[in-house]
Amino acid sequence: MSTSALPGGTWTLGDLTVTRFGYGAMQLAGPYVMGPPADREGALAVLRAAVDSGITHIDTAHAYGPGFTNELIREALHPYPESLLIATKVGATRDAQGGWPPARRPIDLRHQVYDNLKSLKLDVLDLVNLRLGNAEGPQRESVAEAFETLVELQQQGLIRHLGVSNATEEQVAEARSIAPIVCVQNMYNLAHRHDDKLVDRLAEDGIAYVPFFPLGGFTPLQSSALSAVAARRGATPMSVALAWLLQRSPNILLIPGTSSAAHLRENIAGAGLTLTPEDMAELDAIGR
Ligand SMILES: NC(=O)c1ccc[n+]([C@@H]2O[C@H](COP(=O)([O-])OP(=O)(O)OC[C@H]3O[C@@H](n4cnc5c(N)ncnc54)[C@H](OP(=O)(O)O)[C@@H]3O)[C@@H](O)[C@H]2O)c1
Repeated sequence: MSTSALPGGTWTLGDLTVTRFGYGAMQLAGPYVMGPPADREGALAVLRAAVDSGITHIDTAHAYGPGFTNELIREALHPYPESLLIATKVGATRDAQGGWPPARRPIDLRHQVYDNLKSLKLDVLDLVNLRLGNAEGPQRESVAEAFETLVELQQQGLIRHLGVSNATEEQVAEARSIAPIVCVQNMYNLAHRHDDKLVDRLAEDGIAYVPFFPLGGFTPLQSSALSAVAARRGATPMSVALAWLLQRSPNILLIPGTSSAAHLRENIAGAGLTLTPEDMAELDAIGR
């Protein structure tokens, strides 16, 4: 399949053009994103299926596993196709209970950048998101020291592009006052619309918005309006949720997660559904 065959077409992150339909690799690790996957061959097959389908944007983090997800990506796909952009995150680590404690001191960030380079077997990371806040969501705090550390690593040639994740509008603005960013990766889907205004403002400035949990994450999206539109259109609720995101704004890039090649193919096909203005209005009402 050529890249243009994927729903949504392409978007350019800095100097790198990617398919708007990407893949989020978090679900490939073991339970609670800890340890290796139960089905290693299946996980490798999903990654290969993603690239074979024309996807050129994979989202990951060394913290997934930790290390296991990046190692699967390396095993399945290295040497990476020229067209593939692997986006990663730094700013949180893992504890023995599977928690995600923040780790944003300069020394922590440097170690995490080196961990990602090593586990992905790369000399340069295409895109690094500074993951802010905590598991409860964004928190008010200055990003300056942490973001400046990443800018230094960028200037040293270890990172091509920067983004922020789990960020408030103020943090996005603060990061942008320090150095350009190419994306914001925050929680957003049909039912969680806190970032509506941010999505539109970033679109005006040519910055991508990459929603995490596009399908609801660990709690799948459920809504009678979503089910009604899906039934009317003969599609699955997942397909409708992804199609809605692609139609919501041209700067939205999808990174739905799955550990199943069949679900991946279903999601690619489903996201191409063209929603009518009536469908969009009904769906828009869910999260408002
Ligand atoms: N920046 C951050 O703080 C942050 C936080 C969370 C996630 N992320 C990124 O965002 C990506 C997306 O988030 P996510 O993977 O957690 O959540 P998601 O994409 O909203 O949902 C993934 C879940 O949906 C299921 N699913 C996918 N397609 C399906 C289908 N066709 N039918 C039935 N079930 C289906 C998956 O199960 P199966 O495996 O069974 O398909 C999985 O449980 C992650 O992979 C990660 O890269 C970033």
